[in-house]
Amino acid sequence: MRRVQVAIFGAGPAGLLLAHLLRQAGVETVVLEAKSREYLETSPHRIRAGVLEWGTKEMAKQAGVGERMLREGLEHGGIYLAFDGGLLHLDFRALAGRSIWVYGQQYLVRDIIQRHLEAGGEILFEHEVVGLENLGEAPVLVFRTPQGKEERLAAEFAVGADGSHSLARRYIPGARIHQKTYPFAWLGILAETRPAAEELIYASSERGFALYSMRSPSLSRNYLQVSPEERLEAWPEERIWEELNRRLEGVAEVRPGPILEKSLTPMRSLVVEPMQYGRFFLVGDAAHVVPPTGAKGMNLAFCDVAVLHRALLAYYRNGDTGPLTRYSQEALRHVWQAELFSYWMTTLLHTLPDPFEEELRRAKLRHLGESLPLQRFLAENYVGLHTTGRYVEG
Ligand code: DHB
Repeated sequence: MRRVQVAIFGAGPAGLLLAHLLRQAGVETVVLEAKSREYLETSPHRIRAGVLEWGTKEMAKQAGVGERMLREGLEHGGIYLAFDGGLLHLDFRALAGRSIWVYGQQYLVRDIIQRHLEAGGEILFEHEVVGLENLGEAPVLVFRTPQGKEERLAAEFAVGADGSHSLARRYIPGARIHQKTYPFAWLGILAETRPAAEELIYASSERGFALYSMRSPSLSRNYLQVSPEERLEAWPEERIWEELNRRLEGVAEVRPGPILEKSLTPMRSLVVEPMQYGRFFLVGDAAHVVPPTGAKGMNLAFCDVAVLHRALLAYYRNGDTGPLTRYSQEALRHVWQAELFSYWMTTLLHTLPDPFEEELRRAKLRHLGESLPLQRFLAENYVGLHTTGRYVEG
């Protein structure tokens, strides 16, 4: 049986960044990924959020995978909130001393794959992990090759980075799963048209929440709050544009353009506790899911990677197992911080079905408009001051 120091399964942002950082430190890794490289890099089903915290941008830069991100991404100094017919600008530099970076997650995945392979890293695409054995002492990954053959890989440590529909999370014996679902979903579009404003607009209108984001000065990424039972067929293009404009009335305008992709995103929160067992660790969506409001998913995944990477290096460099035993405990602090913020943003901005809760929500929004400390709370969390911001040097 082949042996490797660290076996990672899942070539999303978390698995890939960890593999690349470990390789730079001389630790040998293999990444196994069920999908093809082409699917990961180009499938419209792989479009995810596009906002990087300051710390996430720095991590990508320091890992040597940020060249294209720095060239093609957009630096934003804040966001807009639209409510009660007005527009509130939150200046993140003034409120939290940091900016954010707009760059699609799928683009960053493409960039890390490219850099990692160029640097001699090993990613086995179309290799599906179907089982895990002996995770307490000497992990073995059971996987299926593209030819359908079942094979095994032995590792000193195994890392589950297989995303929100994770198989890995089932292998933490006695894990608690904390879960919540929300009574709405997002209908998202990617369209060839100028964004509504030069920065993102989070709009809370009487017709429901809408988000006006972007990928470039000519590519818009917009979302509408819809019912969780909603079907895409009910939304022809004219209806989408009309609704996007109605939820932004009196504030800004979106000009219709060719729609390149349309999707529905359900909204839920999930946390697996603990995030480790024996010589096995979970990172990213495999360990936790956040609702999309605030774009914390990938940023949170990068936090996990920063903690696990440090812990693995403490072991490989100094034989110190302490940080590895404390991985889950340390990671869960930033996990719950991101869960809190994603919940807070979601319930602040979406129209709620319960009339009493809806009135409370509107009071919360008005309070935010008048309270600098609340605005600072939002800004610090949005830029990741105490999450990824804690883990980058400089
Ligand atoms: C995007 C997605 C988000 O969930 C968010 O809060 C901001 C931006 C996006 O896809 O651009």
